[in-house]
Amino acid sequence: MAEDQQQQQSGLEQCEALVNNRDRWRVYKRGSVMFVLAVVGLTVVHRGSINIGAPFQLERLSRMGGSEGVKHGAAQEDKMPSYLGIKSFWKASKRQPVTKAGANTQRPRITEDSRPRTWDVTNSNCSSNLNFSSQEWFTGLEDNFKQFMLYRHCRYFPMLLNHPEKCTGDVYLLMVIKSVATQHDRREVIRKTWGKEQVIDGKKVKTLFLLGKPSSVAERVHHQKLVEYEDYIYRDILQWDFLDSFFNLTLKETHFLKWFHTYCPTVRFVFKGDDDVFVSVENILEYLESSNDATNLFVGDVIFKAKPIRKKENKYYIPQALYNKTHYPPYAGGGGFLMDGTLARRLHWVADTLELYPIDDVFLGMCLEVLQVTPIKHNAFKTFGLVRNKSSKLNKEPCFFKSMIVVHKLLPSDLMHMWNLVNSDLVCSQKVEIL
Ligand SMILES: *[C@@H]1O[C@H](CO)[C@@H](O)[C@H](O)[C@H]1NC(C)=O
Ligand SMILES: *[C@@H]1O[C@H](CO)[C@@H](O)[C@H](O)[C@H]1NC(C)=O
Ligand SMILES: *[C@@H]1O[C@H](CO)[C@@H](O)[C@H](O)[C@H]1NC(C)=O
Ligand SMILES: *[C@@H]1O[C@H](CO)[C@@H](O)[C@H](O)[C@H]1NC(C)=O
Ligand SMILES: *[C@@H]1O[C@H](CO)[C@@H](O)[C@H](O)[C@H]1NC(C)=O
Repeated sequence: MAEDQQQQQSGLEQCEALVNNRDRWRVYKRGSVMFVLAVVGLTVVHRGSINIGAPFQLERLSRMGGSEGVKHGAAQEDKMPSYLGIKSFWKASKRQPVTKAGANTQRPRITEDSRPRTWDVTNSNCSSNLNFSSQEWFTGLEDNFKQFMLYRHCRYFPMLLNHPEKCTGDVYLLMVIKSVATQHDRREVIRKTWGKEQVIDGKKVKTLFLLGKPSSVAERVHHQKLVEYEDYIYRDILQWDFLDSFFNLTLKETHFLKWFHTYCPTVRFVFKGDDDVFVSVENILEYLESSNDATNLFVGDVIFKAKPIRKKENKYYIPQALYNKTHYPPYAGGGGFLMDGTLARRLHWVADTLELYPIDDVFLGMCLEVLQVTPIKHNAFKTFGLVRNKSSKLNKEPCFFKSMIVVHKLLPSDLMHMWNLVNSDLVCSQKVEIL
């Protein structure tokens, strides 16, 4: 709550700064218009010469994602190994065959051929589904679940900000980060740290933030223009016309998958995570390098046999009417996971056929189950919190962070600080003690 207020305030300060800069901005704008005209002119010439015979080449693009990494089911706690080799312990990727016999014989409903070349949703109108409003199971639901059920059939919304160009060229790793309009400080730090777009050993790494609309009117008024300006500067925000609410995180997942399918036919790998995590891109690349079989790759902080939470006070409470099985399929915490691009494209067609589920990472687990792909649990992904003891020294130990792929969860200033420590002349001993 206090955090929100702070953000709002810093948003307002930014507004004032923008006003003060207005004159400079006008000059800048005039220059920009001339620049744009020049680019348009050049593009016309360019298109004219290369378009023949390759009509879709220019349309190839990219996309991204993000999530809230908290345990949604009561799962057995995995015992953490008490020692982890500091250097590359995660490289020993013992990948079991992840696909069961007979899998993948299903014909995709959405095939590569049916891939739209642009975002094809332009209408936001979706009226509530009143079909079950008189049914007993529905009237007994809490308000937020009623809201979810009434709009569950509204699957896709138009885009407010798009970057069809993001995946052009050979993008090796696309980092997609779930964020919301108000968290510009988190995005700012991510751009300066692990989300920096770069080419590492010839591998292109790109970054995108995934946003919906701010959920309160006040936030929409204060933040939408700022988000647009931020995107104008950095060109790394995808935004859709749905409310950024907790239950709508699943929409963020499905929209990203559809976007990826549309614009990123050649991207090799996708990292999808939250905007409050620490990520080591270097370790991701080393991990991918060492896992030679990159088909059906889905790796993260996976929990097996999580039970749906039935206590109403809990954030992850799910009523029986919504899910009546005793366990969830295996799923990776949404705070940060890694998958290969081909699997992401297959996940799109499954996600398109399943009923939406209010918890985004469980929903993705359900999609993986349909594909009969078992996600891989890896100890370098810590999305469900580092250690249960918050005052543990590990939370401040750079050598520990250096050996990880994802660590949940850090506020912007802590992230910046840890990033600087990890990237300083850090000398780490062979072993780091966990717990
Ligand atoms: C969507 O709603 C707006 C106003 O609510 C209306 O003017 C418009 O015709 C609607 N469009 C469609 C396709 O139903
Ligand atoms: C509501 O029920 C009618 C009749 O069964 C059906 O045609 C319609 O698609 C349903 N509406 C939604 C939004 O599912
Ligand atoms: C999700 O977003 C849609 C579109 O903005 C909205 O109508 C719906 O109420 C939202 N759902 C929830 C559960 O917040
Ligand atoms: C569980 O839910 C499914 C689908 O909603 C329904 O077909 C089934 O009868 C339910 N089972 C029980 C035991 O309630
Ligand atoms: C948490 O860790 C700190 C420092 O390692 C220790 O002093 C404290 O007793 C621990 N607390 C619990 C509840 O284990």
